[in-house]
Amino acid sequence: MEEALLEYLRCPFCGSALEIEKVIHINTTRIIDGILRCMCREYPLISGILYMRDDEISKKVLMLLRKERLHAALYLILEGRMIKKAIIWANRFHIQPTFWRIIGLWNWKYWTYYLRYRFSAPSFIAAVALLPVIKEACDGYMLDLCAGVGHFSFAAAKHIPPTQIICVERRFTSLYFAREFFIPHAAAYIAWEAHQMLPFVDNFFKTIVCLDSFHYLDTKYLVSKEIERVLTYEGVVLLPHLHNQKMFNILPGSPLTVHDYQRLFSNFRFRMIPEETILKNLLEAQVLDITHNDNVDEVDAFTMIMSKTDRYFKQYSTHMLFSDAEELIVNPIYRQRKTKKGWQLKLKFPCRLYKVEFPLINKYFEKRLFISNEDINNTDTIYKLQTQFVLINVPPRFVQVKHVIKKR
Ligand SMILES: C[S@@+](CC[C@H](N)C(=O)[O-])C[C@H]1O[C@@H](n2cnc3c(N)ncnc32)[C@H](O)[C@@H]1O
Repeated sequence: MEEALLEYLRCPFCGSALEIEKVIHINTTRIIDGILRCMCREYPLISGILYMRDDEISKKVLMLLRKERLHAALYLILEGRMIKKAIIWANRFHIQPTFWRIIGLWNWKYWTYYLRYRFSAPSFIAAVALLPVIKEACDGYMLDLCAGVGHFSFAAAKHIPPTQIICVERRFTSLYFAREFFIPHAAAYIAWEAHQMLPFVDNFFKTIVCLDSFHYLDTKYLVSKEIERVLTYEGVVLLPHLHNQKMFNILPGSPLTVHDYQRLFSNFRFRMIPEETILKNLLEAQVLDITHNDNVDEVDAFTMIMSKTDRYFKQYSTHMLFSDAEELIVNPIYRQRKTKKGWQLKLKFPCRLYKVEFPLINKYFEKRLFISNEDINNTDTIYKLQTQFVLINVPPRFVQVKHVIKKR
């Protein structure tokens, strides 16, 4: 965690500022392991992740950190018997497993699929279409609220400095993966339950993103007020992939009606756009159009963009999304077969639930494709395959790939 950020953090229990109690490891300006304190309690900081949850684990980890027993503290705080062992083992023997491999050890199979194929999900791709808005607000910090393992922060860090990104997520283990695989240089990773007060000073963030998560939070009224409190007046809030209470969803959480989402954020101007419209505009025209509201009453998932100014509500080109990649791989949603003349690709869902959760894949993705050896050397073809999300950019240790396609 960047030391300079301490100034902007607040204890969510007593509201006082945080100070350094003990530093075990520091890397220039970045505290890796140590203990922070406020007026009412102490917080462990381990592997660069600030653990703000007030539970038994926190107390035990603090005891271990006081004795500088870092491996034991990390072992205790990580979730999942197999994952703990794999991480400690990899750290001890300096082995670098891929994310794909290690997430296979998670004991909820669908979560493994969700995370392995996150870059293929229409909900994710439609959120990526919003990156030009984030770039527009790049002169301040971005909060990735309920960040998961950091897929979206990885994509955002191509367009704003990673040191302006803060990931908040309830699961320490997810943040460990975010730091290890997706966004190694974020300003901070904070393990915290976002349905309580957010641990930041007022008017701090320029952008707040909460992707595929707001409908899972229980205290939506409180979270909406907290989002408003920690956002600057010129800031922008992006809630991509909101579930609609009126429509069926296989993993619904506790969604609200369109009207109730608007009521929660009534102090903001807003745009509500069906996720499918955003996806279609991105895939077919490489634009993001948030000039006007669409009717989202009858759509199962939509995006809400909010601000107190009209500055962000315009049309954007999304070409920037396809010009930054140094290395591209074939989207893992495609099974690939190498032939003498090139690659044969075939769309293949990882499981039935994934197919039910993301029906837009079947609607918008090519089912079968052939990429010839000549195509790989053709800049225009590569660009087109990127705009179709057949070729994607992933973090270096995301998956072991046989064929990395270098962009020229
Ligand atoms: C469906 S996932 C989305 C993750 C990420 N935003 C993405 O789109 O890839 C929902 C995430 O919200 C997190 N989450 C759920 N409730 C939370 C809470 N109260 N506080 C913080 N994180 C929470 C979960 O742990 C999970 O990582």
